[in-house]
Amino acid sequence: MTHAIITGASSGIGEALARAFAAAGYSLTLVARRQAELQALADSLDVPCHVVPHDLSDPAHAADFIDAARAALGPIDVLINNAGMQVIGRTDEVDLDACERSIRLNLLTPLRLTRAVLPEMKARGSGTIVDVASMAALAPTPGMAWYSASKAGLAGASDAIRAELMGTGVHVVTVYPGIIGETDMGGKGLTRYKPTLALKLQPQGTTAELSKRVLNAVTKRRDRVIYPSFNISARHFPGLTRWVMDRFSPELVDEPT
Ligand SMILES: NC(=O)c1ccc[n+]([C@@H]2O[C@H](COP(=O)([O-])OP(=O)(O)OC[C@H]3O[C@@H](n4cnc5c(N)ncnc54)[C@H](OP(=O)(O)O)[C@@H]3O)[C@@H](O)[C@H]2O)c1
Repeated sequence: MTHAIITGASSGIGEALARAFAAAGYSLTLVARRQAELQALADSLDVPCHVVPHDLSDPAHAADFIDAARAALGPIDVLINNAGMQVIGRTDEVDLDACERSIRLNLLTPLRLTRAVLPEMKARGSGTIVDVASMAALAPTPGMAWYSASKAGLAGASDAIRAELMGTGVHVVTVYPGIIGETDMGGKGLTRYKPTLALKLQPQGTTAELSKRVLNAVTKRRDRVIYPSFNISARHFPGLTRWVMDRFSPELVDEPT
């Protein structure tokens, strides 16, 4: 049975990825802090699951669970770096501790986990790393300076590693979700911006469709998932994207108290 590790599987996109990969017959290592949510998800799936309650915001200990995951479910075929957090706020007002935690969780930990699983993947000549970045990597967003930096960093590393691994049999998929408003993060994010026409016109995606596309990219060894597809032009026309972002990004509103 193929074995996928999914970080941030306790809700949102990670939970939907777990359901999609389980339906495709993968055994799963599910990682996040909320054990009860992970266990409930594992109990609802018809595949072997290894539940790992683990805080991934300390990169030095991020990979501590990997040996036990391998012992429980065998060699790791797919690593999905999905866990993430977002700080939204004016850059001169944001909580620096939370911002630095976001860089560790969104950027440093995925690189550490990749470092931990790559040797065995290269030795076997197969395996896939999936990095869940964000459209904020392609369209850095006012009010999300640290988040945009973390996701641009992850997407850049993801491209670099894919190129480095060419010919090894190990593949890298970079995922750029746009607004997925049904998740905790997506829903909260939307409340922090003025609901301008430009924001309302942005198509939103669903976790189910995104997960289907990620599974398809892993199976067919595609390099990227940009979803909703409306956003694909941002990758090909970065100058135009910057122009649109500078003129049409909605203003921040204060956090609801
Ligand atoms: N929703 C969107 O619009 C959107 C758009 C672009 C990119 N993304 C990216 O998609 C990924 C999933 O986000 P989502 O929308 O599904 O949000 P979500 O429902 O809030 O999920 C975030 C996941 O990350 C886990 N997590 C957070 N802090 C953690 C920590 N310190 N250690 C371990 N796990 C941690 C959470 O689990 P615990 O709280 O149980 O630890 C949860 O499972 C993130 O990387 C996000 O940046 C989302």
